[in-house]
Amino acid sequence: MSTDALTKIRNASPAILPSLLMCDFGNLLGELDRLQQAGVEALHLDVMDGHFVPNLTYGMPIVEGIRRHTDLPLDVHLMISDPLRYAARFVDAGADLLTFHVEAVADPIEVATRIAKLGVAVGVAANPETPVEKLLELAPHCDLALVMSVNAGFGGQSFNPIALNKLRSLRERFPDLLLQIDGGISLQTIGLASQAGCDLFVVGSAIFGQPDYATAIRDLRDQLVS
Ligand code: DX5
Ligand code: ZN
Repeated sequence: MSTDALTKIRNASPAILPSLLMCDFGNLLGELDRLQQAGVEALHLDVMDGHFVPNLTYGMPIVEGIRRHTDLPLDVHLMISDPLRYAARFVDAGADLLTFHVEAVADPIEVATRIAKLGVAVGVAANPETPVEKLLELAPHCDLALVMSVNAGFGGQSFNPIALNKLRSLRERFPDLLLQIDGGISLQTIGLASQAGCDLFVVGSAIFGQPDYATAIRDLRDQLVS
């Protein structure tokens, strides 16, 4: 199932992944409908523990609830201190791709290997101040590298261009690795990330702050280089 989801994501790339952090959780089904009607290819779910990051969101029950209402690949961004403690439960809840933060764990290769054994795709994320070397070291052990263009924790922050050089380095060394960017992606920044070699663009406020999701997504897609 994970390989299917990964293939779906690969085939869809370059793709825009809405981050549900800023959606209307009081109307989650309505939000899913609007996104599916807008033709999104996957959903990005931000899990925060109030410990690794100073913000708290949601956990397995929301992932499981979303899983019951969509066949879209679920990309779960774990901003938590102990990803291995919960990884199997997120897989049971229906995650297809689990991304953990390199800053959160002592032995990231071990974490990537153990997550892969659960039968899902594995991503590794790094905050802006974390050197790209960490991602370069881990790339052979994962399916995706997530380059953060803001400090993980909150939506609506400004894009940090340090991410662009990291994307270029990763793309140069690993031509086939899936590259994802997250944070401050908008009409002004998405083209830069695309030119730097990025495949997957996580977008929160630039979709959920707009009245019409389909139009917002189409306008963002228009900025991508294929
Ligand atoms: C931030 C999250 C992001 C966030 C992006 O820590 O990982 O996925 O929702 O939101 P925007 O696009 O508003 O920066
Ligand atoms: Zn995210």
